[in-house]
Amino acid sequence: MGWWTERVVPRITDKACGTQEIAELRKQACAGLHGRVLEVGFGSGHNLSHLPAEVESVSAVEPADAGWALSEKRRQASPVPVRRTGQDGQALTESDASFDSALVTFSLCTIPDPARALAEVRRVLRPGGRLHFLEHGLAPDPGVATWQHRLDPVQRRLAGGCHLSRDIPALVAASGLEVEAVDAAYLPGPWISRPWGYGYLGTAGRRD
Ligand SMILES: C[S@@+](CC[C@H](N)C(=O)[O-])C[C@H]1O[C@@H](n2cnc3c(N)ncnc32)[C@H](O)[C@@H]1O
Repeated sequence: MGWWTERVVPRITDKACGTQEIAELRKQACAGLHGRVLEVGFGSGHNLSHLPAEVESVSAVEPADAGWALSEKRRQASPVPVRRTGQDGQALTESDASFDSALVTFSLCTIPDPARALAEVRRVLRPGGRLHFLEHGLAPDPGVATWQHRLDPVQRRLAGGCHLSRDIPALVAASGLEVEAVDAAYLPGPWISRPWGYGYLGTAGRRD
């Protein structure tokens, strides 16, 4: 990981993903989480203040030390114990079927192999457990999608590996998790921001 991705991107992300509009969506994404929760791509801990009272603990998987350091105040303010249990969502150290819920927000765009990460999430969720996701990705409008593919190489370089054009619900479904609900819409912002702003909010369950 270069210094830009390790030191600068986490700070930019902390600000860009810390808006009030996104906080509203985080609250919806976190509703229903309970028990032992795995969060993949923990970042600077923006979801902590939205966790329901039924959450017992959070296992945080985050590669960027700077992101983890930025989360310190939020972790201290959280009534829920948070432990950094890994640095790569593609190779979790957790045992099979050991979590009640999993959470991933704005990270499936960045994890190099999201299919592997989702397979890992499925493995560590107990049967009946549920992944909650809030992500950005491929827009349905061909014009916007074309720009997303065009901008992807630059976005990847500037934003720590972030892709604009990943089809998040398709990736989740391909992992064997059953997609139960997805709301998809442009996130608040000017028209020009559309390639960055097609959002998916949903849940997917492990059936067996
Ligand atoms: C745009 S940030 C989102 C952070 C946070 N989830 C949020 O909603 O604010 C993307 C996050 O994915 C993390 N990430 C990148 N590669 C990863 C991997 N292989 N496993 C887990 N997280 C990863 C980055 O370090 C970064 O914290």
